[in-house]
Amino acid sequence: MAIHTDKISVEKSKTSKIRNVDFSNLTFGREFTDHMFVCDYEDGKWQNPKVIPYQAMSYEPSARVFHYGQAVFEGMKAYKDDDGKVFLFRPKQNFDRINKSSARLAMPAFPENYFFEGLETLLKLDNEWIKPGVGNSLYLRPFVIATEPAISASPANMYRFMIICSPAKSYYNSAVRVLIAEHFSRSANGGVGAAKAAGNYAAQFYPTSLAQQKGFQQIIWTDADTHTFLEEAGTMNVFFRVNDKLITAPTSDRILDGVTRKSIIQLAEDLGITCEVRQVTVEEIKNASKDGSLKEIFGAGTAAVISPISAFEHHEELFEIAEVEDSYAKKFKQTLLNIQHNLSEDKHGWRREVK
Ligand SMILES: Cc1ncc(COP(=O)(O)O)c(C=O)c1O
Repeated sequence: MAIHTDKISVEKSKTSKIRNVDFSNLTFGREFTDHMFVCDYEDGKWQNPKVIPYQAMSYEPSARVFHYGQAVFEGMKAYKDDDGKVFLFRPKQNFDRINKSSARLAMPAFPENYFFEGLETLLKLDNEWIKPGVGNSLYLRPFVIATEPAISASPANMYRFMIICSPAKSYYNSAVRVLIAEHFSRSANGGVGAAKAAGNYAAQFYPTSLAQQKGFQQIIWTDADTHTFLEEAGTMNVFFRVNDKLITAPTSDRILDGVTRKSIIQLAEDLGITCEVRQVTVEEIKNASKDGSLKEIFGAGTAAVISPISAFEHHEELFEIAEVEDSYAKKFKQTLLNIQHNLSEDKHGWRREVK
């Protein structure tokens, strides 16, 4: 990869919106901080990285992203401890993943030094927006769009990389009810399911809205061929606890390789909990529910950390999952939050302090 040496230029916002934000009553993804990071790809290279006031942008209607959805994104968080130190959680994973997503959509890789220098410059400027305390965080949204004004159906020659930031409280706090996919699919073999491509999410909205009409918040997607293997939820990987053992699907070109998922697999090993990474069938989980061995199902992802699932429906049959005393979901959530907020030892070196 080429070495990029341009300095990040900074234009500070003249005013701050922070006084207008009610941090005790945040809706996820609605409020944005005072600044954003932008960098453009032109003439075969990323150039002119800068942090500027958060603002609207204008592009020609012919910009390729509007026509062919050449767009990828990431989701990560910054946390603050009670001493005011700011941390990222395994950010290299997100950096690597956005470039993996870009490669799948024929988009250019973004340089690592720009990613981290841009992000850290932004976080220093918008430091006041990161509130301390478990449950508070600043959600970070790096993304790349094809900006070239040309509508032939081919990869663009111009792109914009950006990072915007939104203060967040952990959301999906209450348990979710899910529908198991029987007809629709979020991804196909050889498709873009493993990329964080914008279109993957658009494709889920319609089936998810049908699920919501039936009283379910999310769908657990199954393999597109047979709809017999449980894969992942809308923005979460999924874990099943049968007796005291965890099971989660292996990643594939249909499943996003989640940072939370891989952290839980490691934490399970640390805690002496068996975690099988293997295909898991709908039938197996239904049977486990019927014979009482299914103790928990939970989703795992950056936004919600861990979301317990309280019920699932398949073939019009509803399965309720009673709360358990020694919940793994609670244990993993607490362990992860403690690491993220600098409240416990970080033996795997997952925290990265923003200095
Ligand atoms: C489809 C999908 N699966 C899983 C996840 C969880 O990934 P992570 O733990 O890296 O946030 C996400 C969220 O990024 C997602 O969009």
